[in-house]
Amino acid sequence: MSSKKKSGTSKKRDHQPQFYGYDLFADQAPTVKGRLIVLEGTDGVGRSSQIALLREWLESEGYAVATSGLKRGKLAGKGLKDAMAGHTLNDITMSLLYATDFADRMEREILPALRAGFIMLTDRYIYSIMVRSLVRGVDPAWLKNLFSFALVPDIVFYLQADVSSLIPRVLNARGFDYWESGGDFLPGRDYYENFVTYQRRVLAQFDALAAEHKFRRIDANRSMHAVFRDLQREIRKVIADMKPARLPQEIPAVEMPPEPAGGGDGRE
Ligand SMILES: Nc1ncnc2c1ncn2[C@@H]1O[C@H](COP(=O)(O)OP(=O)(O)OP(=O)(O)O)[C@@H](O)[C@H]1O
Ligand SMILES: [Mg+2]
Repeated sequence: MSSKKKSGTSKKRDHQPQFYGYDLFADQAPTVKGRLIVLEGTDGVGRSSQIALLREWLESEGYAVATSGLKRGKLAGKGLKDAMAGHTLNDITMSLLYATDFADRMEREILPALRAGFIMLTDRYIYSIMVRSLVRGVDPAWLKNLFSFALVPDIVFYLQADVSSLIPRVLNARGFDYWESGGDFLPGRDYYENFVTYQRRVLAQFDALAAEHKFRRIDANRSMHAVFRDLQREIRKVIADMKPARLPQEIPAVEMPPEPAGGGDGRE
């Protein structure tokens, strides 16, 4: 993933797509009119919430917005979920299946949307998949090579929160998950302890990737609103030279019902 471009963000693009290593998809991306914006970070850090807010904001400004996320590909998404439910894969085959899902989404969702001029907001990217495999001991060089067909995003936001901030969010939202607590490889059986251990290891790997690929760190220990404001400010710069697909949405005038004949109070 290092031969072409080392940074996780690309400077002002000339609309020529950049790939990390192999440009296997170059013929499918002769030009890229849209922007690829990635939100990365640990489980429960607030990615879904921020993507929903960003989408609403960007669409109201007149931009066409598309989203993508892990395990959402038509080809391998269901296979991945089944494999996780049935524990049928090892660390290598799991990485390969994640890579298949990612390649499928690159081809069918991400590149077509970028060609059509969409702002593509992705909930995690190759980095989460790599981190997931790295904490389980998969070889870093092999992983880099495996994902080197990935398009270099215009910006990668790293939503970073301490484990102590994550715990109440995850517990409130849905409780601890087997995989997010490293249930497949950590020896203990205590979900709480395992969640803390696993997420600390994940954070350490994310920190290393963030430094290597120059992610834009956002302090996600703060309120949702504060995080959103920072994202908005950074995204404004990334889309500064884009034209919205249509004019910003005007708030439609509320149509008042006609006065009822005879001056009644309108109640039924
Ligand atoms: N900045 C924040 N401060 C406090 N709570 C937050 C913040 N951001 C999100 N939350 C809450 O934390 C929970 C998880 O948020 P969200 O689902 O957006 O995270 P996620 O990163 O998409 O998680 P997942 O790993 O489950 O996909 C939700 O209940 C959400 O309301
Ligand atoms: Mg989510």
